[in-house]
Amino acid sequence: MNTIRTQVAIIGGGPAGLLLSQLLERKGIDTVVLERRSRDYVLARIRAGVLESGAVDLIREAGVGARMQREGIVHDGTFIAASNRGFRIDFRQLTGGSVMVYGQTELTQDLYQARDAMNGKILHEVDEVRIHGVDSDAAHVSFRWQGRERRIACDYVAGCDGFHGISRNTIPASVLREFERVYPFGWLGLLSATPPVSDELIYASHARGFALCSMRNPALSRYYLQVPLQDSVEQWSDELFWEELRRRLPAAAAETLVTGESVEKSIAPLRSFVAEPMRWGRLFLCGDAAHIVPPTGAKGLNLAASDVYYLSRALLQHYHEQDDHGIDDYSATALSRVWKAERFSWSMTRLLHRFPDQSDFDLRMQQAELEYLESSLAAQTALAENYIGLPY
Ligand code: FAD
Ligand code: PHB
Repeated sequence: MNTIRTQVAIIGGGPAGLLLSQLLERKGIDTVVLERRSRDYVLARIRAGVLESGAVDLIREAGVGARMQREGIVHDGTFIAASNRGFRIDFRQLTGGSVMVYGQTELTQDLYQARDAMNGKILHEVDEVRIHGVDSDAAHVSFRWQGRERRIACDYVAGCDGFHGISRNTIPASVLREFERVYPFGWLGLLSATPPVSDELIYASHARGFALCSMRNPALSRYYLQVPLQDSVEQWSDELFWEELRRRLPAAAAETLVTGESVEKSIAPLRSFVAEPMRWGRLFLCGDAAHIVPPTGAKGLNLAASDVYYLSRALLQHYHEQDDHGIDDYSATALSRVWKAERFSWSMTRLLHRFPDQSDFDLRMQQAELEYLESSLAAQTALAENYIGLPY
């Protein structure tokens, strides 16, 4: 068997794994990243679009902020629309902060480029990844690559392998606790090479279901529709999508919407999920491997970034200062921020979507909450503070 040695074995070459690898290697800590898919596959996934300022700072610290700085779009606010009306939440005025619109696909590309420039070790299309001995001093990872059994001996393992990865289930069932809410609908997303309908995002609550207008750049728009879980992408022609989106937007936006052929279309189910603890012995969980949020609060990628922030600090403290406090506190520190983002994402989802079993009372509650949000600067400040991201 072919054995290599590293300090931190990282499972998963998504944003969490790549960012962690980049931050550690820049400080002289050796890593190997194992990714199940090809690079092209990873780069074809259309996902997040909104970065909190904490994530932006971390990306800069990792030395991969140059293109984001040039091409990312700073958003100082967002629109909330309901019943053909809309109002704006002014992040800048209410909190002094803002968010950055920059696609996850672009960020992942920047990270791969930076890793390549430093001769980073990223193995793609690995199979049968298994984690061993993280509850002892002999941690290692076994896997198949290019038809051969391999092994990495390491000090620590970072499980950055997303919700369907293997890292989380390495933690014994007697230790692991999982908390979950599955929502009775999904989001149908459409990417089109058309100018965005608005300079800022529009989150629209409508009797027919939620809709979101987002963007990637001035010539590329990303739109979402709440759809029943049973729906398939094939049922939704581009024409049907645009027609439905227009119905759910305030008239002013619907009239100016520029439509075009879709570049990508996919359905994502909505889920809230947290696994505790996020550390077991020499294994750390990071990002979607440990938690999932419904996308309504734009928090998934941002939580992956804050986990990476805490874990990179903890590992640097261990290797450079022989201090394990960060490692010992990692799970509690990360989870404290995770649960607050879970709460925010859940509350935004509940506020803006139609639920199949909603009673008339529930509908009035939603309406009252939206009216309160529109009329109260205190309520808007609470939303803005969470949306731009709680401090690390
Ligand atoms: P992933 O991106 O899932 O990466 C995990 C990697 O591990 C993958 O490349 C996978 O192939 C690999 N892997 C899996 N299993 C194995 C294995 N056994 N061995 C080796 N490798 C493995 N978040 C936001 O913050 N803002 C948004 O606006 C936003 N919008 C979203 C919209 C949609 C439609 C979706 C689906 C998600 C959105 N998210 C958003 C969430 C965000 O995309 C995720 O939270 C983010 O990708 C998490 O990064 P990650 O690196 O933890 O996991
Ligand atoms: C996106 O642009 O993909 C996006 C933006 C905001 C969200 C979710 C997704 O809340």
